Amino acid sequence: MRTQVGIVGAGPAGLLLAHLLDRAGVDCVVLEARSRAYCEERQRAGLLEQGTVDLLNELNVGDRLAREGLVHHGLALRFEGVSHRIPLSDLTGGKSVVIYGQTEVVKDLIAARLASGRDIRFEAEALALEGLDTAAPGISFREHGREDTLTCDFIAGCDGFHGICRAGLSQSALTIYERDYPFGWIGILSDSPPVSHELIYVNHDRGFALFTMRSPHVSRLYLQCDVDEDIANWPDARIWEELRRRLGDHDPPVPQGAVTQKNVTPMRSFVAAPMRHGALFLAGDAAHIVPPTGAKGLNLAAADVRVLARALIAFYTERSPRLLDRYSDVCLKRVWKAQRFSWWMTSMLHRFHGDTPFERRMQLAELDYITGSPAGMTTLAENYVGLPFEDL
Ligand code: FAD
Ligand code: PHB
Repeated sequence: MRTQVGIVGAGPAGLLLAHLLDRAGVDCVVLEARSRAYCEERQRAGLLEQGTVDLLNELNVGDRLAREGLVHHGLALRFEGVSHRIPLSDLTGGKSVVIYGQTEVVKDLIAARLASGRDIRFEAEALALEGLDTAAPGISFREHGREDTLTCDFIAGCDGFHGICRAGLSQSALTIYERDYPFGWIGILSDSPPVSHELIYVNHDRGFALFTMRSPHVSRLYLQCDVDEDIANWPDARIWEELRRRLGDHDPPVPQGAVTQKNVTPMRSFVAAPMRHGALFLAGDAAHIVPPTGAKGLNLAAADVRVLARALIAFYTERSPRLLDRYSDVCLKRVWKAQRFSWWMTSMLHRFHGDTPFERRMQLAELDYITGSPAGMTTLAENYVGLPFEDL
């Protein structure tokens, strides 16, 4: 088997890259270890920056997003029992964000790829990469119990944090930057309307909580928990009680509904640099992870492949490797700014074990400043809606 670009992983990064390349006539094959149903049902992100929405529209996969996505012009930070609205659009020249589940983005991208008849293989697990320093690198993979090799010009490692593309590189080739947080998030999906039409981020003595949504009838709710929390210790009644306590005296109170999904997510900041190794280009979670507090993960994955697609297309149309050579540096500039924002939001909103009364006062003073000053609010807003893309 041969193609121009071999893509490992059919998450948002791999699927978006495949569409961007197709559109320019660059041939690619997507290999995905899991089944189509698994990829489409995996509950994760929900908030899209304007730039990600624009990209989906450009690729003609934005119709359902336009119909079903919920456009948000503001959010609330709630601390000491009071909500403070950050008017995102007013502070950013009219930019907004859209709530539309990653599950839905992935469904739309998979359906469009299958409809175009282009090659995407589910339950095709990449096993190893070969010849990254040659002109014909390969991906060995197993599909229906049979092993084969996909030979390509370039490989896009879009296989997420636990994938094989980064893991197969020698340790000395990578510089790893990381921070683990001493807490996680319990996330639930509930058949109940959101408590507010805008997201509420809560800093509370008992820990962080986030009230978000997937539709006018489905809520997505998160609670800070211990890092090694066993979800079995959290029957639904305990989760609702804790959500009520952290939201505090709020009008209306949290609407309750049937809990349809429940999980625990660890929190981590991670960057593996550089993002290019010979013919291999890492993109999305394969190269970096942010804690979900700033909602940046999926959006960063989209930003990476936007740069990668331009660079690959320039290579094929102009025979110029210039943009490929700049790929890692260009992406990492945005990655580090998103890392900083996600770390800052996480630090400002969560309770840390052993935080002293002084540290706690610092957190509350920062929230008071951010919500009380136009400069403070603007700093949050411009990062939240997504920083501008760098010209290539
Ligand atoms: P992934 O989505 O992980 O996709 C990688 C794919 O590669 C998977 O399908 C996997 O099965 C496949 N794969 C792995 N190994 C192999 C192999 N060997 N062979 C073939 N295929 C392989 N981000 C936001 O922007 N906004 C949010 O609101 C947000 N909220 C979040 C909330 C939670 C609770 C969590 C956990 C994450 C959240 N994120 C958010 C982050 C976001 O979900 C990720 O950043 C995003 O999924 C990254 O996309 P990706 O394509 O890089 O990786
Ligand atoms: C979500 O809707 O899942 C979501 C929204 C905002 C975040 C994190 C997660 O900061």
